[in-house]
Amino acid sequence: MEIILDTANLEDIRRYNDIYDITGITSNPTILAKEKAEFFPLLLEIRSIIGEKQLHVQVTGSTCEEMLKEAEALTDRLGKDTYIKVPANEEGIKTMKVLKSRGNRVTATAIYMPQQAMLAASVGADYVAPYFNRMNNMNVDSKKAIGDMAWLFEHNQIQTKIVAASFKNTQQVMDALMAGAQAVTASPELYTQMVENPMIDSAIAGFAADWEATYGDKRIYEL
Ligand code: E4P
Repeated sequence: MEIILDTANLEDIRRYNDIYDITGITSNPTILAKEKAEFFPLLLEIRSIIGEKQLHVQVTGSTCEEMLKEAEALTDRLGKDTYIKVPANEEGIKTMKVLKSRGNRVTATAIYMPQQAMLAASVGADYVAPYFNRMNNMNVDSKKAIGDMAWLFEHNQIQTKIVAASFKNTQQVMDALMAGAQAVTASPELYTQMVENPMIDSAIAGFAADWEATYGDKRIYEL
């Protein structure tokens, strides 16, 4: 199971990279634009924080030729191991096919349907990124769609992994994993929400009160 951060915020990346054993960082043009920073310096700073962990960066061109040029610039500046995120439309699949023949790493993105995932996988994409919340917004059963992708890959011995994305709540994240996604990429806030809530606080406060009533302010290592 892989836990990925869907952010380009340096402070968050430092903090959450310290707490969790993240597999890497995913970004898209919207996420990068939010940081209002120079494109390559920001990505290089992210690279220096996460070391050799995965960095997924999306191309923005609409033709195969443009996307290939962008991919080349990305791998030149950020390293050959950079995962090139390519939208899974026809031009994108063509781009993925060339990138894979050149030994690049590829994440197929903007996935709303298992058929896109299947075609991206057929040209060797390393990951496919189904958009859980956006599918829900279209009245698509995201859990079933991810389950179908997982079934297709498993029964055809396809190595492509599913990195589910686009989450608005923690239930969606868990649903994606339960449906068969090997990886999830979510905002830092969602990971915090998974382990921070008033019930957890109350349990911890209860134990602290019972401890203090018996041992005062001494810690275990002082007894
Ligand atoms: C990740 O690959 C996607 O770009 C991202 O999760 C989309 O999320 P959104 O639907 O919240 O924009």
